[in-house]
Amino acid sequence: MKAILIGFMGSGKTTVGRLLAQQTGTEHADLDELIVASAGCAITDIFANQGEAYFRRLEQQTLRRALTTPGILSTGGGTPTMPANAAILTASPVPVILLAASDATILQRVTGDASRPLVNDLDTTALLDLKHRRAPLYEAAADLVIQTDALTPQQIVTTIQDWL
Ligand code: S3P
Repeated sequence: MKAILIGFMGSGKTTVGRLLAQQTGTEHADLDELIVASAGCAITDIFANQGEAYFRRLEQQTLRRALTTPGILSTGGGTPTMPANAAILTASPVPVILLAASDATILQRVTGDASRPLVNDLDTTALLDLKHRRAPLYEAAADLVIQTDALTPQQIVTTIQDWL
């Protein structure tokens, strides 16, 4: 991998990852999409039928595999908050980039998104609590932090390319 994108749900990891891969002429992999492809069902179904712990095991296995392939990897919002995944990211030489966004930006992007089980299950206060609890874990895993609120996806990509 050339770069790994981390951040809370709705921080733009997938959008920015795709654009960055396009513009650097490399592959893009999305951890959630890889999990869905290997499980053969949607993330909401995995959470509902097998539970979050099972999803986290799949996520960890998929992360290990994804890191052996070239390109840009967009992770899931919980990926770097699992201690085993944090250790995998720390041990990897690939730069980890945190896409940070304000509470308002995140709420605006994820509210009503039925494809995200944690958005379905948590009310606004609980979702923001989770975001605040995760913030130090994201920061600990990151080599670069980009505050994205005022930036377009293209501006974020340019910032990353200038830094890489
Ligand atoms: C999760 C975020 C999701 C997905 C799963 C759990 C989380 O990824 O991995 O629903 O724990 O924050 P996105 O950040 O791409 O929505």
